[in-house]
Amino acid sequence: MHKHVLGVIGYPMTHTLSPYLHGFMIEKLGLPASYFAFSVQPERLGDALAGAKALGLTGLNVTVPHKQAVMAHLDEIDARAKAIGAVNTIRFEKGAAFGTNTDAGGFLESLTFNDVSLAGREVLILGAGGAAHAIVYAAQQAGAAAISIFNRTAERAEKLAAHFGVRAVAEADTERLANGAVVINTTSVGMSPKLDACPLPENPFRSDLIYVDLVYNPLKTRFLALAQHAGATTVDGLGMLIFQGAQALSHWMAREIDVQKWYPELRTLLISKMK
Ligand code: ATR
Repeated sequence: MHKHVLGVIGYPMTHTLSPYLHGFMIEKLGLPASYFAFSVQPERLGDALAGAKALGLTGLNVTVPHKQAVMAHLDEIDARAKAIGAVNTIRFEKGAAFGTNTDAGGFLESLTFNDVSLAGREVLILGAGGAAHAIVYAAQQAGAAAISIFNRTAERAEKLAAHFGVRAVAEADTERLANGAVVINTTSVGMSPKLDACPLPENPFRSDLIYVDLVYNPLKTRFLALAQHAGATTVDGLGMLIFQGAQALSHWMAREIDVQKWYPELRTLLISKMK
């Protein structure tokens, strides 16, 4: 039996890449740990957390649809997760559950790895769901000059904007953005199998903007394909997945994990596991 039992809870858990990602890092580092995917129905979330504590798990990742609901079942939540309003990583210690969030950190690490900095830049965020919360937080942490949020359902954008003290916009108008502005898709638009969908109108892709997608299946969404066609810099969603996972493992194991050196190998592995 391994010393550390780790895993991810979500529902439904049909094609999560997390066990491959963590399994890879655990093997490379020779950690005494195992990582499992647990499908937990929303009404069993409290039972699952109590069970995890009782069984002595070391940590859990939390994914859709539990990131917000799980907060009611934790003993402590750090300032970052509270500010984001969601927990994606839980650490168990002495029978207590501690919540944090590595989505914002993973996102910023992925941008840095791709030589993109948000400092001093204008940022337009598409979407106002759970993922958008972590991205607005990250953009603020990174020192973005101005942040605006566009969402199909305007009230959600307004609520999110008010929560972080930024601006909600009624249109995803990229023409008014300054040179070097960053447009970030946090919606599920473009995700497999709806490959033709794009979260922006098709005309205004600009070569001087940076386009970032959180979607990683497919890697080249229509959004990123149009941006590349216009000659713009793009960043796909796989980096955020990798770095948020590495930060979670690092948190559980209380050690630094340099995942960058395995980045190409990990990408190839995860791409091979995508359906
Ligand atoms: P997540 O936690 O992954 O962000 P979510 O909370 O369900 O998931 O949010 C999904 C986001 O994608 C929302 O911003 C949603 O817009 P609405 O608030 O209007 O629902 C956006 N989204 C999903 N499908 C969309 C579509 N077909 N067109 C535009 N936006 C869409």
